[in-house]
Amino acid sequence: MKIPFNKPYVTGREMEYIRTVVEYGRFAGNGDFSQKCARRLEEITGSRKAILVPSGTAALEMMMVLAGIGPGDEVIMPSFTFSSTANAVVLRGATPVFIDIRPDTLNMDETLVEAAITPRTRAILPVHYAGVGCEMDTIMSIAEKHGLLVLEDSAQCILSYYKNRHLGSLGQMGAVSFHVTKNIHCGEGGALLINDPAFNERAEIVMEKGTDRSKFFHGEIDKYTWVDVGSSYLVNEISAAFLWAQLEEAEIIIERRRELWNRYHEALVPLETAGLLRCPIVPDECAPHNAHIYYILLNTPQSRDELMADFKTRGILAVFHYIPLDTALAGRACSPTSSPLPVTADLSARLLRLPLFVGLETEPVIEALQLSLEQMNG
Ligand SMILES: Cc1ncc(COP(=O)(O)O)c(C=O)c1O
Repeated sequence: MKIPFNKPYVTGREMEYIRTVVEYGRFAGNGDFSQKCARRLEEITGSRKAILVPSGTAALEMMMVLAGIGPGDEVIMPSFTFSSTANAVVLRGATPVFIDIRPDTLNMDETLVEAAITPRTRAILPVHYAGVGCEMDTIMSIAEKHGLLVLEDSAQCILSYYKNRHLGSLGQMGAVSFHVTKNIHCGEGGALLINDPAFNERAEIVMEKGTDRSKFFHGEIDKYTWVDVGSSYLVNEISAAFLWAQLEEAEIIIERRRELWNRYHEALVPLETAGLLRCPIVPDECAPHNAHIYYILLNTPQSRDELMADFKTRGILAVFHYIPLDTALAGRACSPTSSPLPVTADLSARLLRLPLFVGLETEPVIEALQLSLEQMNG
């Protein structure tokens, strides 16, 4: 038996749409498929403006350019996240200020945000781990009180909600990922969600390498030129065509993942009751969520490592993440005054992600988990 950790889903229409691109010969960014994807994302998320970008990482980087984050600025974020969250800030010459996470959702602990604010703080960067929302009402009101931006890392959040609002649509901007590991994907891809129209006009320039080319295309000017900083943030149409096939079926894909997530949950809650592990906790206001990750927390780091090794011998690939950024080589260099984050250190060392993809048979994984835990606990 071999069970991979992830198996990228294809709907079956990807090739048809890619063929359309090849037949029409329009390959560059901002073509018909990019536009269709962007409009669909606006519909799904309720965001005022969606821009298709090459990755979730690119969305975070473009967001920081638009937010005007620069040298000397500080941005508050969890350290339990992917390197891209912090890199986007560091690339602007600013400093990530890491705070601890909540033991229930593993999201930024909103009760620690205010104490981390200094005169240099410009933004709060909540990361919605596993597609489960941070405590956004509290975060938004702290930001308002202190005049800070809220920039959401909603990389894992397509079709996930907080109080019925799509994640990534609550702060001034949100970043989404369509990396192959995400629920909806195009290999490498992402979207920037802009919720405050004040950023719209500059976004059109920043995404076009700092030129006013968009205005030229809309017939507003007769030549375009370099007017601001920017980079290459457009997605080629082949990727957009692939993504369109996925977005057409987004709700179906997520529903099928939710079924798998629920199957794991129903089977594993008795193990939690027996004190052998802890299951994910989803606060009521964070439903529905998109079932991006099913993780378990073992009682000790040793039992996590043993279980992972045992799974491997049974042909099941289960993985962990993240090595907390504050303890990583680059994290220590970029945020040298970071204080210890005990909840992050504890939970990240005990976390294991179970395989989760459309088409997965959960039963063999559940059986293997039950057997392994029995053996480990004598
Ligand atoms: C929390 C988080 N932020 C940022 C990213 C970066 O997204 P991408 O891989 O599309 O660049 C990811 C995904 O890998 C992520 O999970």
